[in-house]
Amino acid sequence: MEPKTILITRRLPGVPFEILSGRFRAGASPPDTAMSREEFLRRAAGAAGILCTLADRVDAVLLDAAGPGLKVVSNFAVGVNNIDIPEATRRGVRVCNTPDVLTDATADLGFALLLAAARRFSEAGRFLREGRWTGWDPWGLLGMPVAGKTLGIVGMGKIGSAAAQRARGFSMRVLYHARHPLSPERERELAASHRDLDALLSESDFVMLCVPLTVQTRGLISRERLARMKPTAVLVNIARGEVVDEGAMAEALSERRLFAAGLDVYEKEPQVHPGLLLAPSAVLLPHLGSATVEAREGMGRLATENLVAVLEGREPPCPVN
Ligand code: DGY
Repeated sequence: MEPKTILITRRLPGVPFEILSGRFRAGASPPDTAMSREEFLRRAAGAAGILCTLADRVDAVLLDAAGPGLKVVSNFAVGVNNIDIPEATRRGVRVCNTPDVLTDATADLGFALLLAAARRFSEAGRFLREGRWTGWDPWGLLGMPVAGKTLGIVGMGKIGSAAAQRARGFSMRVLYHARHPLSPERERELAASHRDLDALLSESDFVMLCVPLTVQTRGLISRERLARMKPTAVLVNIARGEVVDEGAMAEALSERRLFAAGLDVYEKEPQVHPGLLLAPSAVLLPHLGSATVEAREGMGRLATENLVAVLEGREPPCPVN
C-alpha cells in the first residue's frame, strides 16, 4: 500500500521528522520559520495528515486545498482557534491538540507576569539600564502588593486551576468565572468562589485571563468591562489577545484607569498594539506561555501521537472533535 502523505509545517521540538518520514511520505524537511500561507496551501495538497502550529490557519480554503484525503489536523498547541473546527468536523477531519503538558509552564508564566506587572519590572529594568538610577529611593517605583489580595481567574480549566493553586502560595483570595462552575468539592480544593464576570472584575485586584478563544470569548473584556476594574488592578492575559479590546486596554493604562497589565498574547501577533508598546506599566512578552523545553517536547510528542494514531485508524490521545 502507498504510504500516506503528511505535512509538518515547521521544525518542532519533540516531533521526529526523520522517523515520521520513514513511515509516511513527508516531502522536504519542515522549515525553521513559519510557512507562508501560499506554501501551506500548496504543500497541503493531497495530505492525509497535517501537523501544524497556531500560526497556521486551517479554514475551508486550506481544507479544500488539502483535498478529500485529509484525515487529521494535529495542532502543536492546546488552543485550536486557528482551526475551523465545525468545517473540519463537517468534512470528517479529526482535529487534535496538546493539553496538560503545558499547563504548569503556562500557569507559571501567568504568575510571573502577575508579579512583574504588580512590581513594575519592565519600567524598573529600563530605568536601571538607562542609567537613571541614582541610588535607593524610598519613593521610587512603588508597586502593588500581591499577598493577601484578590485574584479573579476568568476561565477555570486546567490552566486557570493551576493558577488558583499557585495563588494559595501567595495567600490570595481566589474568585473565578467559568461557563460551568466547578463542583463544590473542587471549589473547596482550590479555595475558589464563583462570580459572574462583572462582579469578578469589580472585586478583583488581579484578573488573569485563562479562557480559550471562541465566539463567546472574543472581545469578552470589552471597553465597558475594563471600566469595571479597579484603577489599582492588574490585568494578566495568558489566553489569546482577541479576548481583550486592546485599544481600550492601552487607553486605560495610559489614563491610569488600570494600574498595569502583564501580557503574553496579542490580537494580531506578531504585531503589538502601538499603545501597549508605549505604556510603561505594560509588561509584554512574545507568547511564551508554553516556552519551556519540557513543555514544548511534550507538545511535540503528543502532536505526533495524535497524528500517527488517526492515520493508523486508532483513537488519538487528545481529540478535539
Ligand atoms: C497554546 O498551546 O495554545 C499556546 O498558546 C502556545 O503554546
